[in-house]
Amino acid sequence: MTTATTVRTAARVVDAVKVYGRGDTEVRALDGVSVDFPVGRFTAIMGPSGSGKSTLMHCAAGLDTLTSGAAVIGDTELGSLDDRRLTLLRRDRVGFVFQAFNLVPTLTVAENITLPLDLAGGRGDPEWIDALIDVVGLRDRLHHRPTQLSGGQQQRVAVARAFAGRPDVVFADEPTGNLDSRSGDEVLGLLGRTVRQTARTVVMVTHDPVAAAHADEVVFLADGRLVDRMESPTADKVLDRMKAFEVPS
Ligand SMILES: Nc1ncnc2c1ncn2[C@@H]1O[C@H](COP(=O)(O)OP(=O)(O)OP(=O)(O)O)[C@@H](O)[C@H]1O
Ligand SMILES: [Mg+2]
Repeated sequence: MTTATTVRTAARVVDAVKVYGRGDTEVRALDGVSVDFPVGRFTAIMGPSGSGKSTLMHCAAGLDTLTSGAAVIGDTELGSLDDRRLTLLRRDRVGFVFQAFNLVPTLTVAENITLPLDLAGGRGDPEWIDALIDVVGLRDRLHHRPTQLSGGQQQRVAVARAFAGRPDVVFADEPTGNLDSRSGDEVLGLLGRTVRQTARTVVMVTHDPVAAAHADEVVFLADGRLVDRMESPTADKVLDRMKAFEVPS
């Protein structure tokens, strides 16, 4: 007898449509995308510039709203929440890493990491935070300020901050866009390690095949539609798939 296993989904969108503007200036940034992001997996979203990657991430994370369709985090449909509940959900259940590290310059590394928890009025789980500091390798930098760190180290602080509240899912938009390839590699390795060591879920937008190769799975967007998925990606396989999108002009 086989046992049915249900793969839990950290986040998903169903029939997601996002239209910006109207009339002549209307843009269908998402044109009916359905995709799920399973718990404990590192998923990369790839596609040409303008294909809707950031829009998909923003709508899946509750930073922006869909024109139609549904965005769900855990079991919560975001469209059913009022502004206050949506803000609380983002604060308590979602982590973010952006291309610009967005650290607070006047706070130490340790203070930056726990900032979201402090703002929420709690201390979080001290053991979790302590373990996280080792995962990101910043124990000897805890009392430094962001300006005293390299770009890669600053992004590692941002990664630790994103995971500090044990979110259901961490969304990252081009997290290595401002880093040289070595620092970028370090941050990507860190994202992968955090997913595997802590069973967290990461969704990362990137246009870099080398970055995407760090993920467990790549989903490809083109013109606001999901066109392919690839398990166990390598940079070469991803690059080949991307080349197929290039339309001769
Ligand atoms: N606020 C907005 N108002 C109008 N159009 C927008 C807005 N944001 C995005 N778009 C349009 O929606 C489409 C998808 O944009 P999006 O930013 O999601 O692309 P992307 O795949 O992240 O691209 P890139 O790789 O360049 O970051 C583009 O055609 C873009 O011009
Ligand atoms: Mg983008």
